[in-house]
Amino acid sequence: MTDHPGEWHAVDAWISELLLPDDPALEAALVASAEAGLPSIAVSAPQGQLLAILAASVGARRILEIGCLGGYSAIWMARALPTDGILLSLELDEKNAEVARKNIANAGLAKRVEVRVGAAADSMRSMIAKGEEPFDLIFIDADKGGYPEYLTLAMQLVRTGSLIIGDNATQRGAVVDSTSHGTDVVAIRRFTELLGADPRLEATIIQTVGTKGLDGLAIARVTRT
Ligand code: SAH
Ligand code: DHB
Ligand code: MG
Repeated sequence: MTDHPGEWHAVDAWISELLLPDDPALEAALVASAEAGLPSIAVSAPQGQLLAILAASVGARRILEIGCLGGYSAIWMARALPTDGILLSLELDEKNAEVARKNIANAGLAKRVEVRVGAAADSMRSMIAKGEEPFDLIFIDADKGGYPEYLTLAMQLVRTGSLIIGDNATQRGAVVDSTSHGTDVVAIRRFTELLGADPRLEATIIQTVGTKGLDGLAIARVTRT
């Protein structure tokens, strides 16, 4: 029964009902994002909770997000931060950033979260040049074509023990379809090759189903820098 996409929504709802915290600010962020015309491509609620659990598990005090949209995943991860922790979210689109800032403020997280507008690679290069303190968790979720570059730059912004997480890591399984040559799929394959080839990383991809359909979440741990 549950091998059918129709049931994936129902099972995500069941998971959310039984396991996830009741957080009106997260719900409100999705409503406000939809009203502002943002696409509904935020992580699912169970995935948001996974990000929060991973952040808490590594004792994250500094989180970098690449691709903010309306701030939904940022709110999930920022909830896992200690009161003096920070989350920096990089976003290309000024309008998305504005929506996100409002959603983040509404969640009471304005002090812990900064949304920085610009091309993520530029922001990352500038942080590297300035000797920015390493991040404990980096969540890559912006344009898929940029993933290989984001990973290369992320490796210069982490410490041993940091996590690098990449959303949309199987592109609905298209990564293994030899007839798929789209830029996103090609870039995700390259991203995964880089993850596998880097001796400083141990990595996996967990395939996911749910409200977002079939996809995967890449999770890598920095074993040395
Ligand atoms: N992490 C969000 C979803 C992000 S959607 C969540 O789960 O709630 C991807 C976002 O990446 C979009 O808002 C898009 O504007 C942004 N983006 C696309 N290209 C970018 C770039 N080059 N630099 C920074 N952000 C980018
Ligand atoms: C889509 C989903 C995502 O999680 C994302 O980051 C970008 C696009 C999509 O389903 O189109
Ligand atoms: Mg995504």
